[in-house]
Amino acid sequence: MIDQSHSTHDAEADDRNEHIKIYVNGQIVDKAEAVVSVYDSGFMLGDGMWEGMRLYDGEWAFFDEHMDRLFNSLKSVSLEIDETPADILRILNDTAKANGMTSDAHCRLMITRGRKAKPFQHPALSRFGPTIVAIIEHSKPAENVQSQGIRLATVPQVRGLPMSQDAKFNSHSKLNCVIACLQAEQAGADEGLMLDPHGFVNTTNACNFFIVRRGEVWTSTGDYCMNGVTRQKVIDLCRNNGIIVKEKNYSLYEAYGADEAFLTGTFGAQTPVAEIDGKAIGPHQGAGPMTLRIRELYKQMVAENVAQQQATRG
Ligand SMILES: Cc1ncc(COP(=O)(O)O)c(C=O)c1O
Repeated sequence: MIDQSHSTHDAEADDRNEHIKIYVNGQIVDKAEAVVSVYDSGFMLGDGMWEGMRLYDGEWAFFDEHMDRLFNSLKSVSLEIDETPADILRILNDTAKANGMTSDAHCRLMITRGRKAKPFQHPALSRFGPTIVAIIEHSKPAENVQSQGIRLATVPQVRGLPMSQDAKFNSHSKLNCVIACLQAEQAGADEGLMLDPHGFVNTTNACNFFIVRRGEVWTSTGDYCMNGVTRQKVIDLCRNNGIIVKEKNYSLYEAYGADEAFLTGTFGAQTPVAEIDGKAIGPHQGAGPMTLRIRELYKQMVAENVAQQQATRG
């Protein structure tokens, strides 16, 4: 029985986060002084892009993949920054160092079009250069979420077609996802399971979604969801380890009848799903055997990536 509401981003309480240092536009300052203008494009319009990354043993796991997505997004919305991925790495490492962090830390890197000259929409009003902020918190995913699993509710809010607001944008504006999450909460669940415009199961409001059916791992085609780094890593590790994985259309019929379901995201890695719309998923309390296997393989993948980055840095 699940005793209280959770989210996939529940972390163990850590008082040290009240006193962290935060990077804001070239300076590393105390949390209380880490502010941006009320004219900032990110605040006013949600006009910005962000990345969530985790620190393992002094390295940002899958850093290149995160930068690839970030710079693709920035280019797509003509948000130009002077910094290169190497500069971003320096910013993150300096900030982590200022906080004495080497592991169990999570970064939210945010880049907006910057401060505007007037409180209106036109991007040309963002005249004072982009705003770059890196918040890195001490962060350990909460144990009870792993042991109990997440409750999902299917919500009316859908993932739209790419020509409205492409779901691949990790944009500051997450209103589509926030509405989905509110709808899920109102239905008594933790997170919203979102369908695509055709009614196929797509993603949740904050994570990518997988089911396990008769020994196969299924996820959506990827056409309407965030191109999650963790999603791709799970697909890759299945392929590399002889696990049948399919990116395909499927409906709630198949999701309800799945043997296991889990969410993927940088924060929680793989988080088991306990129920969808009040229906228990599979016979397992917490993660089922395939989810556990994938979690183990993912841990190895992270360790290999971290070792590779350490070797490159010398
Ligand atoms: C809507 C949504 N789906 C999925 C993800 C997971 O992506 P990743 O695995 O790259 O953390 C995120 C995280 O940014 C997200 O915002």
